[in-house]
Amino acid sequence: MRAILGFILLLLGGGALLVYSGLFNVSARWEDPAWLAWLLETVRERSIETRAAPIPVPKDLDDPARVRRGLERYAEMCQWCHGAPGEEESEIARGLNPPPPQLVDEEEGAHDPRELFWVIRNGIRMTGMPAWGVTHDDEELWDLVAAVRRLPELTPEAYRAATAAVRRGEGHGHGHRTKKTPSPAGGGDRHGH
Ligand code: HEC
Repeated sequence: MRAILGFILLLLGGGALLVYSGLFNVSARWEDPAWLAWLLETVRERSIETRAAPIPVPKDLDDPARVRRGLERYAEMCQWCHGAPGEEESEIARGLNPPPPQLVDEEEGAHDPRELFWVIRNGIRMTGMPAWGVTHDDEELWDLVAAVRRLPELTPEAYRAATAAVRRGEGHGHGHRTKKTPSPAGGGDRHGH
């Protein structure tokens, strides 16, 4: 009994030392040791699999209009972290830890659409991946899922053609449902990037 108590106190003491001493390095520059990388990855994968399983997938996921809308949104909201066909990896992507996967390089169909939807909607805590469901409705998020699935097969020319309007600054000003913060102007709830 006393041994157990002593052990617990030792753990608590060690924990407090780690928390308060400043020994733990929160820098984004050190790479996780293999065991920690495995642990974090497994927790993430299982968490997402479990939560994504019951999500119903829209039947028109491969609809070209959906893919087109999704690609424009992708160029506006995702490209700076996740890359695009023919684009060099950005400085943001290179500085983030964990690194955002370059979605162009992934094998086509590597991701279950339900898992893509869940991740895009909810984000991933303690990484740079935002929860886009805070500001976008499910239909818009499915457009993104459709686009992400097509990315690996797109040539740089096809990607640039599909997203030309965004680069000209004529994006569709994708709707933001301002759920959390009302727009300061009090008026329109859409703002283009
Ligand atoms: C600020 C950077 C950033 C932006 C912007 C961003 N992401 Fe991410 N995303 C990340 C990071 C970092 C991860 C990796 C998290 C991890 O390793 O656990 C990630 C993970 C993902 C994953 C999981 C990939 C996998 O292999 O498991 C998907 C899918 C994804 N993001 C899609 C998107 C989409 C779609 C958008 C735009 C709507 C977007 N992301 C915008 C940083 C970003």
